[in-house]
Amino acid sequence: MMSAQAWAVVCAAGAGERFGGERPKVFAALAGRPLLAESLERLEACGEIEGIVVAAPAGWEEPVILLAEELGCSKVSAVVTGGSTRGGSVRLALAEIPDEAELVLVHDAARPLVSEEIVTRVLEPLGRGWEAVVPALPVADTVKRVEDERVVETIDRGSLVSAQTPQAFRAGVLRAAYGTGHGEATDCAALIEERGGRVCWVEGDPRLHKVTTLDDLALVEVWLETL
Ligand code: CTP
Ligand code: MG
Repeated sequence: MMSAQAWAVVCAAGAGERFGGERPKVFAALAGRPLLAESLERLEACGEIEGIVVAAPAGWEEPVILLAEELGCSKVSAVVTGGSTRGGSVRLALAEIPDEAELVLVHDAARPLVSEEIVTRVLEPLGRGWEAVVPALPVADTVKRVEDERVVETIDRGSLVSAQTPQAFRAGVLRAAYGTGHGEATDCAALIEERGGRVCWVEGDPRLHKVTTLDDLALVEVWLETL
């Protein structure tokens, strides 16, 4: 059976404020290459991915195009200037995806260790009636709700998971969700949950860890070099 083909949006337009440094976070060096190189090369190598649209930080569109060329990422069909929020970046990138595309993956460049295995895993439920798929991991720590200094309650972590990317969507559902404004959502699936859409989760991968600070980068670098 031929597996379904999908387009990918790579969210790479963040400033990386918590990371610090002169360049945007996606240009920080991971094993000697820009962080973004890892996601681009890995998505390019996925048989299920047909095309890639990258949201770049304002002023960094050219370096992103050059990087894609250097890596031989011929699936990168457009580089757009991102928005001021992640949701804004997704909306702008979606506009460059062909109307015929039926499935869309949205991935954070800040999670460099994406794999074909996880791409296949998130696409699969779309063939069974789900409209959106989130890779997620059980929460290891005990989670508490707090108000200022006071601990208010402990939340049953058995029903909690933490969401990662790449998230997979039926294109029409994702476009509709972004057509009506994306508010403060930090994750695309949230917009579809709000609209009562059919969202499921699949097992994520600890190695999809998001690079937020220098410590995260060091951790991901160790994984990259020992894989
Ligand atoms: N992102 C984006 N457009 C934005 C904000 C974020 O495309 N306006 C992307 C980032 O480049 C990143 C992903 O969304 O790959 C997740 O965001 P986050 O980890 O928060 O990265 P930054 O926003 O860059 O970091 P910070 O919040 O520390 O500034
Ligand atoms: Mg951010």
